[in-house]
Amino acid sequence: MVVPGSQEEKMFYPPDDLQMDAHVPDFNSYLQMYRKSIENPDAFWKEIADEFFWKKPATGSMLQYNFDVTKGSIYVKCMEGAKTNMCYNVLDRHVLKGNLGEKVAYYWEGNSPDQHLTVTYSQLLSQVCRCANVLKKMGVKKGERVSIYLPMIPELVITMLACARIGAVHSVVFAGFSSESLCERIIDAQSCVLVTADGVYRGEKLVNLKQIADEALQKCREKSSTSVTKCVVIKHQTLRTKCGAARNKLQTPWDSDCDVWWDEVMKDSPEECEPEWLDAEDPLFILYTSGSTGKPKGVLHTVAGYLLYTALTFKCVFDYHHDDVYWCTADIGWITGHSYIMYGPLANGASSVLFEGIPVHPHVGRLWEIIEKYKVTKFYTAPTAIRLLMKYGREPVQKYDLSSLRILGSVGEPINPEAWHWYHEVVGRGKCPIVDTFWQTETGGHVLAPLPAATPLKPGSATFPFFGIEPAILNEHGEELQGEAEGYLVFRRPWPGIMRTVYKNHERFQNTYFKKFPGFYVTGDGCRRDKDGYYWITGRIDDMLNVSGHLMSTAEVEAALMEHPAVAEAAVVSRPHQVKGECLYCFVTVKDCKEFNHTLMEELKRQVREKIGPIATPDFIQNAPALPKTRSGKIMRRILRQVARNERELGDVSSLTDPKVVEVLFSQRCEGAA
Ligand code: PRX
Repeated sequence: MVVPGSQEEKMFYPPDDLQMDAHVPDFNSYLQMYRKSIENPDAFWKEIADEFFWKKPATGSMLQYNFDVTKGSIYVKCMEGAKTNMCYNVLDRHVLKGNLGEKVAYYWEGNSPDQHLTVTYSQLLSQVCRCANVLKKMGVKKGERVSIYLPMIPELVITMLACARIGAVHSVVFAGFSSESLCERIIDAQSCVLVTADGVYRGEKLVNLKQIADEALQKCREKSSTSVTKCVVIKHQTLRTKCGAARNKLQTPWDSDCDVWWDEVMKDSPEECEPEWLDAEDPLFILYTSGSTGKPKGVLHTVAGYLLYTALTFKCVFDYHHDDVYWCTADIGWITGHSYIMYGPLANGASSVLFEGIPVHPHVGRLWEIIEKYKVTKFYTAPTAIRLLMKYGREPVQKYDLSSLRILGSVGEPINPEAWHWYHEVVGRGKCPIVDTFWQTETGGHVLAPLPAATPLKPGSATFPFFGIEPAILNEHGEELQGEAEGYLVFRRPWPGIMRTVYKNHERFQNTYFKKFPGFYVTGDGCRRDKDGYYWITGRIDDMLNVSGHLMSTAEVEAALMEHPAVAEAAVVSRPHQVKGECLYCFVTVKDCKEFNHTLMEELKRQVREKIGPIATPDFIQNAPALPKTRSGKIMRRILRQVARNERELGDVSSLTDPKVVEVLFSQRCEGAA
């Protein structure tokens, strides 16, 4: 790694005022700390751990591991022997200090601007204790799983922390997922309790969450004996909105054996609850992420390592200070929300905005209005949101006073130069560094990211590794490439926040991340390192796509399409999209007796929405009388990607059984897919 400064492309240097009181004030400090984290990880992480509370100190070293499948089972252990509790560290520790109890933990903003409330650290702690006691009373024990299907409301945070307090493992399912997806995740986790809400407005649209939850539980009963004994329902929409119509629409059947109202069980629940002292390596949560086989993987994170890693990345990458107002627009249903709305900010005692709504409701300036309202200093969003808002021009941004902003962040997908410059100039008024953070559900926290006062930026590059991260770029044969290079992005050693396993499937964990290149964690992303040592993510190199920052597998969409009785075969590829980054382009072969027509297309779209959720709705569905296959019967996806993009230079197609198939596909391309 070289100290940057001699590049041809335009670099963006940290503003002086940020450097004055930054945790990592310049590039040399970054290099020094980075070296320490690699050469002496034990001392490095011990210092970080000293800021937190340990009921019992660690007996082993800070990190023990085997990262090489050829030498035995993969494992990572952080602070073995230590006992602690995540909830205690992110709440009690602050409240007991005395000075943070009255500090706002969350400024909640509802879907509509007239819905808002604040929650202090003390209030959060007492609500969490009450909820923890409710769960205990329902019989939830340490190690048992609780599924959570909630919109972005304070009760979501409360329930997750209540689980953490009693040692239960939360499994949050994004509330945009379908009943089928929820059911699949409940069955895999064998959860004993489901927490949901009556409903939620997303913009103008009312979603009846309880009904979806009921359908999911019904499907669980049909597929296996369901493990869920209680379903706790929060009266969110019926209590908080002034919309009478919603109240009527949200009435759903009530199963008095299983369903309980949140308000009723919380009412008399005691406000004190001793935390369960957990082993450092006890599980904290499961979060499902798409797998290339189509079946979601339950990514499992553990207590101590995840605490250290989310706390430190949050503090350094957003250069957190006590008087900051921080806002991450992600949903807590994804890892970004777990790490950077919940655990990282709370571990630092930060005040955050918790936003339930969408960026364009009730007007396209909503995000900027909220920044002005709370004087947000650090703002973290996804390129897809930037691209969406760019379409409306500068005026809706410039109407608001955004002068409080000091650092902007980007996450979830590569940020294209046009979006980067707009974000930098229009939102950040040319004064705020953009931290482009590369990471994954599996990594728990940022692994490649600039430090805002230290790292000169190149638009589109996630720049350099975070402390403790040792990246490498390998070629197809597993040989490590030095200097300027492009290939597979891998990591040579673990860091505290890396996932520990795929829930109930350690073999899948090893096969997915460690088998291809023994000795390394394989991200599944391609990457380029330039002559200055900057890392540039080039995109997925497996059959995964990234739609609006959400990772999904082609296999899961194909499986959803194939369930339609008219479909004989389906193949799904990615196609570039102006706002979403990538979108789904599907090829469908119908059964002999069936006809491919508009009605079928609509049915298929609905089918995918119902099976997976609206985020997976295909943009294009094309008739494919046949699919291009090799002699061994493998679909040549490269060709399908070219058809989807209308790229007619096909290169070598000699392995195709029937090259005429491709001509037919080109002649039947979808309208609008120019
Ligand atoms: O392909 C990379 C892309 O998102 C994937 C991880 O998705 P997920 O587990 O859902 O977590 C998303 C939020 C951390 C990665 O393998 N990705 C994430 N951040 C970036 C990115 N691609 C380019 N640049 C990024 N900053």
